[in-house]
Amino acid sequence: MKKVKLGVLVSGSGTNLQAILNACKKSSYPAEVAVVISNNPEAYGLIRAQKAKRLSIIISHKDFETRESFEKVLHDTLKEQKVDYVILAGFMRILSPFFIKKWKNKILNIHPALLPSFPGTHAIQQAFDYGAKITGVTVHFVDEGTDTGPIILQEALAIKEGTSLKKLEESIHKIEHRLFPKAIELVSKKKIRHVGRKIFLGRS
Ligand code: GAR
Repeated sequence: MKKVKLGVLVSGSGTNLQAILNACKKSSYPAEVAVVISNNPEAYGLIRAQKAKRLSIIISHKDFETRESFEKVLHDTLKEQKVDYVILAGFMRILSPFFIKKWKNKILNIHPALLPSFPGTHAIQQAFDYGAKITGVTVHFVDEGTDTGPIILQEALAIKEGTSLKKLEESIHKIEHRLFPKAIELVSKKKIRHVGRKIFLGRS
């Protein structure tokens, strides 16, 4: 089986990257990690990539004068590694239309809330502080808005009374680590259909 090549972008601890690396160990999994790129030289995700014997590259946005020049190097690096899909696994830089247009329907992001609720950063805390009764996880394609792209998978989670933020974070991460590899599998196997902004599951 020819595997789909993933370019995983991280900025931090990389637990979602780890879940993807673990899924990729199965010979029946349709994708493999071709490269891990971090904009943060300190990201633990880079160590995870090295431990899994995957190519890891630092491209620090601080080394570039403009967003576009940073994204050009990012794009060229992904192309060099023949990446099919770009996976945002806790990548904490906004990508501009320049980059997003080049990878239309090829960028997947995981967001720790039920979009369109609580977009942006600190989504778990946003839902917790708001007093939401239900939150969850969303995997979606990235479009030019902030967390507005077509939704591939979502899973809901009740916020029980008296739950601490820490407990909620743990529960959300547990869902993320299951949902992201599943969404990547569906996309890699082309078991999704775009109908306008909707994504239907089932072979296209
Ligand atoms: C994850 O919870 C992910 O959903 C979130 O960052 C965390 C990264 O953790 N992403 C966003 O909030 C994007 N808006 P990880 O580095 O351990 O995978």
